[in-house]
Amino acid sequence: MPYEVQGVIARGKGQEVTLETVVVPDPGPGEAVVNVKACGVCHTDLHYREGGINDDFPFLLGHEAAGVVEAVGEGVTDVAPGDFVILNWRAVCGQCRACLRGRPWYCFNTHNAAQRMTLKDGTELSPALGIGAFLEKTLVAAGQCTKVSAEAPAEVAGLLGCGVMAGLGAAMNTGGVTRGDSVAVIGCGGVGDAAVLGAALAGATRIIAVDVDPRKLEWARGFGATDVVNSAETDPVEAIRSLTGGHGADVVIDAVGRPETYKQAFYARDLAGTVVLVGVPTPDMTLDLPLLDVFGRGGALKSSWYGDCLPSRDFPMLIDLFLQNRLPLDKFVSERIGLDQVEEAFAKMHRGEVLRSVVVL
Ligand SMILES: NC(=O)c1ccc[n+]([C@@H]2O[C@H](COP(=O)([O-])OP(=O)(O)OC[C@H]3O[C@@H](n4cnc5c(N)ncnc54)[C@H](O)[C@@H]3O)[C@@H](O)[C@H]2O)c1
Ligand SMILES: [Zn+2]
Ligand SMILES: [Zn+2]
Repeated sequence: MPYEVQGVIARGKGQEVTLETVVVPDPGPGEAVVNVKACGVCHTDLHYREGGINDDFPFLLGHEAAGVVEAVGEGVTDVAPGDFVILNWRAVCGQCRACLRGRPWYCFNTHNAAQRMTLKDGTELSPALGIGAFLEKTLVAAGQCTKVSAEAPAEVAGLLGCGVMAGLGAAMNTGGVTRGDSVAVIGCGGVGDAAVLGAALAGATRIIAVDVDPRKLEWARGFGATDVVNSAETDPVEAIRSLTGGHGADVVIDAVGRPETYKQAFYARDLAGTVVLVGVPTPDMTLDLPLLDVFGRGGALKSSWYGDCLPSRDFPMLIDLFLQNRLPLDKFVSERIGLDQVEEAFAKMHRGEVLRSVVVL
């Protein structure tokens, strides 16, 4: 029997989200239905609602979630009903050219559930990042469920499902931050602060947090920033250079994703350093840089999809570090809210009042 549950829907560009009944099919082959316990509000959900990702409305929002497997379809052996899982939006295929070359975090053929969740009138929904978890039960591909220790609270575990993993991984995986590095992070929301934390965990000795909001800078200090720069008042490129002996940082992470912040990252980086773009730009944005500077400054310009994480490798490890009090993931949870408060959470995010509002079910 299909399930009928309440979910958060974005019907059109810029329209306020609504709470509507969603029909969730029983899991088919390779699929699982998960009882969502918690789902964080990520800036990407707002990008969807604003039409910044694509026009496939109506969207079923929410994609940063943890829950308990309710049922699995035919052929599913990796997870079973009752397992506590974090949902991931890059279930690797194991067979594409990236996977076959031993680089599954780049998988070019990640998969989602084959069936669609619908509104009661049959309208097919586009689940955000192939998940759609502002919903009591959601349908995903079984590979999107990564089992972790059930000792972790769901609202903390769920954060690894998107923003916090993206930020930690931008520093640790994509940026390859290591002991003694200097790192600058531009934009200190949930993703940027996770990058600050990832840099600290990896052993960076100087971690410079940049934001336009003083409150965010204060929070970034709490995650391990050694220095902060308010780029609404100070030129961040000059500030980062002067904090790094005039050279620039080894790794600069753009957790905003705008042409101006990318340029700041590009020029605030030391020669042969690395720029990591983890903030997501919108389709209208273009970048104009002197090609000679791209050549002359050397190093690497990288993008970070989901922190180049491998859920099966990274989620259980990070949850273990949290349970050992070595990774304060709980500090990202600013508030616990209900499904009917997502729109309000977007407004708070916009005003910079929260790192993560987490819907708890
Ligand atoms: N690459 C990925 O896999 C991935 C995953 C999750 C989120 N994201 C993206 O990461 C970005 C950040 O997400 P978030 O949830 O942390 O958002 P957020 O809204 O919580 O944080 C954004 C931060 O950037 C700051 N900011 C805005 N403009 C700035 C500027 N010009 N200079 C400096 N700081 C500025 C804001 O004050 C805020 O603190 C979004 O674009 C989101 O879509 C990417
Ligand atoms: Zn693959
Ligand atoms: Zn997200």
